[in-house]
Formats: sequence, structure tokens, C-alpha cells
Amino acid sequence: LAIHVLNGPNLNLLGRREPGIYGSVTLAEIERDCVVRAGELGVSLTFRQTNHEGELVGFVQEAGEAGAGVLINAAAYTHSSIALRDAIAGSKVTAVEIHLSNVHAREEFRHVSLIAPVCAGVVCGFGAYSYRAGLDALVHLLRGRQS
Ligand code: DQA
Repeated sequence: LAIHVLNGPNLNLLGRREPGIYGSVTLAEIERDCVVRAGELGVSLTFRQTNHEGELVGFVQEAGEAGAGVLINAAAYTHSSIALRDAIAGSKVTAVEIHLSNVHAREEFRHVSLIAPVCAGVVCGFGAYSYRAGLDALVHLLRGRQS
């Protein structure tokens, strides 16, 4: 089983970006934690980040072609990108949406996710642990569907 963890804009700045909201953990540290958890779960993990909408769309398409499940923190594109929504729907990937922060407790424009309707589920508000919880949930889902 292969999982692609896809990260959108500004997540490369984690650790020094609005630490009051996103915490002090860096994306490299989150990647290490995901790799460790993936090892425990017995799945292969690909971890990617981009600041560009079209590139994120390409990452989703590549996951689809690889038959991989997708764990996605689309960051601000969550709230704006029809192209990303269409990529998830069109490539028929099983995707779980994640966020570090509780987007529902923040500005109103963050309450809407354009990708949530085409994702299997959403995890938000647990800081870096949202990645681990989302990974566990995604693998659980994919294993359930396979057996
Ligand atoms: C975020 C929440 C988004 O609203 C924001 O644009 C981000 C990060 C999160 O992980 O909490 O960049 O996806």
C-alpha cells in the first residue's frame, strides 16, 4: 500500500510561520514522524510540498496513476481551488483532508473547504498530530476496502 502525503503553499515555512497558530514543529519533523508511522503501519510513504496550485494538481494526478492513497494538507488552496477538487475527483484517489489548525474556529473564509466533499474524511485542529491521525485513518480506510 502506498500513501502520498501532499502539502500546499506556505507549509514549507512551518516552525517559524505564525507559531501561535501552527506550532513550532517544522515540515521536515512532520515528514520524519510520518515516515516512522508509515513503517509501523507497513505502508510506503511519499512526502511532497509545493507552493504552486498546478503542481499540487499534478501531485494528485501522479498519486492516482500510482494507485496511492492521498493525505492532503492543501493549505490555502483548500478554500479556493476548484482545480484541486476536480483533480481529486477525476483521479479517483481516496483522499483524507488534514489541517494543523481547527479551521472552523478561525476566520469565516476558512470554514469552507472545496475539497472536503471529494475526500473520505477530514482531520483538523490537532497540530502536527493531525498528520499522524489522518495517516492512521487513511490506512484504516484503504485496508478495509481491500479486504
Ligand atoms: C492550514 C489551514 C489553512 O486555512 C491555511 O491556509 C494554511 C494551513 C492548516 O494546516 O491549519 O495554510 O491548512
